[in-house]
Amino acid sequence: AFDIGKLRDQTGYVTLDSGYKNTGATKSAITFLDGEEGILRYRGYPIEQLAEKSSFLEVSYLLIYGHLPSESELKEFAGHITKHTLVHEDMRKIFDGFPSSTHPMAILSSLTCALTGFYPESINPNQTKEETDLNIVRLMAKMSTIAAWTYKNSVGHPLNYPRNDLDYASNFLYMMFSFPTEKYEVNPVIVTALNKLLILHADHEQNCSTSTVRLVGSANASLYGSVSAGINALWGPLHGGANQEVIEMLEAIERDGGDTSKFIAKAKDKNDSFRLMGFGHRVYKNFDPRAKIIKKAADEVLQALGMQNSPLLKIAQELEQAALTDQYFIERKLYPNVDFYSGIIYKALGIPTEMFTVMFALGRLPGWIAQWKEMRENKEPIGRPRQIYVGEGERDYVGINERA
Ligand code: ACO
Repeated sequence: AFDIGKLRDQTGYVTLDSGYKNTGATKSAITFLDGEEGILRYRGYPIEQLAEKSSFLEVSYLLIYGHLPSESELKEFAGHITKHTLVHEDMRKIFDGFPSSTHPMAILSSLTCALTGFYPESINPNQTKEETDLNIVRLMAKMSTIAAWTYKNSVGHPLNYPRNDLDYASNFLYMMFSFPTEKYEVNPVIVTALNKLLILHADHEQNCSTSTVRLVGSANASLYGSVSAGINALWGPLHGGANQEVIEMLEAIERDGGDTSKFIAKAKDKNDSFRLMGFGHRVYKNFDPRAKIIKKAADEVLQALGMQNSPLLKIAQELEQAALTDQYFIERKLYPNVDFYSGIIYKALGIPTEMFTVMFALGRLPGWIAQWKEMRENKEPIGRPRQIYVGEGERDYVGINERA
């Protein structure tokens, strides 16, 4: 604690914790995380059980409403989402306005915020519970359409409209990969893998993007505006953008001849800014429980798709082994995180690298919604961190001609 009064002309005490390494910003009943033991639970349910037995929409309901849905609750929730997957035709005009070089995350955040224009009642801070539920369903439904269209737009293909006869994951895959000229068959192996990936990313308590959603929302900003801000935070390469960086790193190692030891040495070199992407975590200091599940899923998916000899998987395995036995990584407790293997699965599913972080956003959406809703229901005050001022003391203005 710093005595600000002694430092400058202000009064009172302020705790300084750069990066919030040990500062709780809120009380939350959504996600339990024990970084030392590698435990992650949504609403008390272990992530391992949810990834194995549940579906993404069921987990979304659990996070947002606090309990596992009954059969009828899940049917109703999924039905509402299916009903709202269409986006306003005018959204297409906004798509057309983006240069083709625009990163999909920029389009996703812009269009998420643009939803406020189509549903102006969503910005009312005094909306009823029913109105909030409708805004939640709209966002869950439309974000998958926007995400798939972002991809189609980037490659110049015709956009696919959502199909109401398909479940959430299958519909997303259909919108991403179907062409008017060929019949698209949804592969159940891919649907299972996608559900698992989305579940593993669905919430992670007060990470950078979720804290952003809560902070923005604490000013009574709308759900769409708050989530749009969260998408931009997730885009950062030290956060969600890491999954894209991992695959680009693995590809760079492959192009370079596949010598992983060279890249391990670079990561250890303090004069080199290179980091082993997909390694290390602010909270997990023994292992990331999601990485364990995803590693197994990557093996299963590649096996099922006949891609078990993928050179990128081989490089990833070598890198992991080398890092896990290297003193530098052991001392700093750097282990593979969830993103180390997620990119390999996304690539196997045919999802282009630039879309990886969009996939992460799709998965994280119910967590953001649940956290925004919890913050509102708990009537939390506006977030407003303090600072330790270290700039100049008071001084007189100097005219431009008198400055040295
Ligand atoms: N490669 C090499 N060295 C690393 C790495 C890495 N990936 N991560 C941390 N280190 C080193 C740092 O250089 C530092 O070394 P030093 O003590 O000699 O100075 C030490 O480990 C501690 O690193 P910090 O950056 O202080 O750790 P922090 O907890 O602040 O950062 C983070 C965590 C951002 C995830 C970091 O490990 C990193 O940059 N990893 C790579 C990016 C990544 O995979 N991000 C995804 C995170 S998971 C997610 O968002 C879903």
